[in-house]
Amino acid sequence: MSIDLARARADTPATARLIHLNNAGAGLMPTPVLETVIKHLQLEAEIGGYEAAGVTAARHERVYDSIATLLGCHRDEVALVENATVAWQLAFHSLKLGSGDRILTAEAEYASNYISFLQASRSRGVEVAVVPNDPDGAFDVAALERMIDPRVKLIAVTHVPTNGGLVNPAAAIGKVARAHKIPFLLDACQSAGQLPLDVDAVGCDMLSATGRKYLRGPRGTGFLYVRRSLLEGLEPPFIDLQGARWVAPDRYELRPDARRFENWENYVAGQLGLGAAVDYALGWGLHAIAARVGALADMLRTRLAALPGVGLRDLGRQRCGIVSFTVAGREPRELVPLLRQQHINVSASGPSSTLLDALARRLPDLLRASVHYYNSETEIDRFVQAIAAIARGR
Ligand SMILES: Cc1ncc(COP(=O)(O)O)c(C=O)c1O
Repeated sequence: MSIDLARARADTPATARLIHLNNAGAGLMPTPVLETVIKHLQLEAEIGGYEAAGVTAARHERVYDSIATLLGCHRDEVALVENATVAWQLAFHSLKLGSGDRILTAEAEYASNYISFLQASRSRGVEVAVVPNDPDGAFDVAALERMIDPRVKLIAVTHVPTNGGLVNPAAAIGKVARAHKIPFLLDACQSAGQLPLDVDAVGCDMLSATGRKYLRGPRGTGFLYVRRSLLEGLEPPFIDLQGARWVAPDRYELRPDARRFENWENYVAGQLGLGAAVDYALGWGLHAIAARVGALADMLRTRLAALPGVGLRDLGRQRCGIVSFTVAGREPRELVPLLRQQHINVSASGPSSTLLDALARRLPDLLRASVHYYNSETEIDRFVQAIAAIARGR
């Protein structure tokens, strides 16, 4: 199925007055998602928060089914949490790595993940080693294979980095991880909702994602997938009465499913909205979404590359909807508000979000334009014209 652009844009009213190219920041919520959130908030105001949760309990349960369909996993392997960072950290810290254990990660790893590695290194003597990139700038799977030894207790890789369109070869990494029985944690924050993600095809054991980006869900939502075979042996770093039951004065029992990673108080309206967003994405089909996002991003890259003074900064053989670039003599952080005055939303990505990659490539701040399937070819034209005018100094 291909995307019906007119319907996609009608479901996204802001597209009538805004060129939104900040989908890697937060995608625009489609109307069914917005209505789901508002309806539940209204119900909470009318009858009470707990009472509203009772009314929508069955719908809330279906959010797990929706995410399970999105990822090709079982609903018991899904936990709903506040954002991708919380999901990732819960997974990472439940592994309880100790002195001498090694983590293998990627050059373009996200800052928050790497900060956690440094924390584990400082507090527990965990070692972190970075797998180099291949000549195309993607994670080098052959190098990964060479770096495996008995000390490696985790492979943790960002699927799509925050600073560009690179798609790391997750399935090839998963194959190596499986062959060596090493847990594989995939940060799918930037890929969920723009690329098909099947946890068995990818071969990851844990996956973290956010609701607000390419899935077009509400802010303050995220989820964690944990493979059932790993789940039993994992104790979350903090547990409350949602994740465990207090069964005797000196004893608690963890929930058998991934909800052991959840805590009790939650943004129910947002989680219902997340479920609606996942259903909405599934309605289009992730292959159709990926095809249109990829085609629009390729068009944008080709057009930007032809502009004097504009330098593309994306890496990799496979690239997705995030396009990062620089304009000679112009600071991205100045250009973001300038473009906003023209009703164009983009963002800037600074070196500290992906420090290793930025240092290796001597990257300055980058402008990041991230397209979604509801963007039109006309919007790409108008954006390229705006960048051309900036590059010409007008
Ligand atoms: C690669 C990557 N991982 C994780 C995150 C954190 O996601 P969240 O803000 O939902 O915690 C981001 C956010 O930009 C990201 O780009």
